[in-house]
Amino acid sequence: MEWGMANRMAQLIQSDGHALFLPVDHGYFQGPTRRLEEPRKTIEPLLPCGDALFITRGVLRSSVDPDNTRPVILRVSGGTSVVGKDLANEGITTSMEEAIRLNASAVGISIFVGSDYEKESLLNLSKLVDEGEKYGIPVMAVTAVGKELGKRDARYLALASRIAAELGARVVKTYYCGEGFEKVVRGCPVPVVMAGGPRVNTELEVFEFVFDGMQKGAVGVNLGRNIWQNDFPVAMIKAIRAIIHQNATPKEAQELYDSEKGKEQKKP
Ligand code: 5RP
Repeated sequence: MEWGMANRMAQLIQSDGHALFLPVDHGYFQGPTRRLEEPRKTIEPLLPCGDALFITRGVLRSSVDPDNTRPVILRVSGGTSVVGKDLANEGITTSMEEAIRLNASAVGISIFVGSDYEKESLLNLSKLVDEGEKYGIPVMAVTAVGKELGKRDARYLALASRIAAELGARVVKTYYCGEGFEKVVRGCPVPVVMAGGPRVNTELEVFEFVFDGMQKGAVGVNLGRNIWQNDFPVAMIKAIRAIIHQNATPKEAQELYDSEKGKEQKKP
């Protein structure tokens, strides 16, 4: 691996082999998402606990100070919205020159395997990989399912993740699916991070799925709403960080959350 690529990968995946990415890119297709209405206010307190920020160029420029030292994974696909015809019909929204100008450590793009736009999204990924490899910038592929959340079974996720890796993604972000998740990871020859999905009911459920996914071979998470939509987001990210980087059990993570939330004001 070229020095630049290896250096950027090391910024993303920490020396213990694990990673906690903090996605705040949701607005690119769903507008001002709950508790991300004012991105700066959401991002600032969480930034010290994330290993990288997954973000669009617009929110990066407007809402993150340039003296930030956390690595940036630039969301570079989009062009669709929740009120439009088909979320899967994405294009590449941001050039590699722009990613370099913004000092991105990686770029991220969604693929929509099985959708009407499967081919376009896979060719977008391939083109992005060609560009990224030229400049030593890793591509993270996001196996997206649009509105069809039912597609989150192990067979589908293994297929989509493997295709992403085959086309050259250096990291794959996919959903945790419980049973069979170990097969998703085993069939994907590059590091896998788990996406969060909609908020679940209790913190413990989040800790349990993150812990289980790590046991099954994920290198970490790319977890958004389950962190910043929580009433105590800083306590939440600290507890998840403990699972990822200190091998904490769900019970230990819950104890940490319970003790940390006393130090934080409940989100309105
Ligand atoms: C949105 C994304 C998000 O980065 C991803 O879904 C993770 O966020 P959450 O944990 O809120 O699902 O790719 O397009």
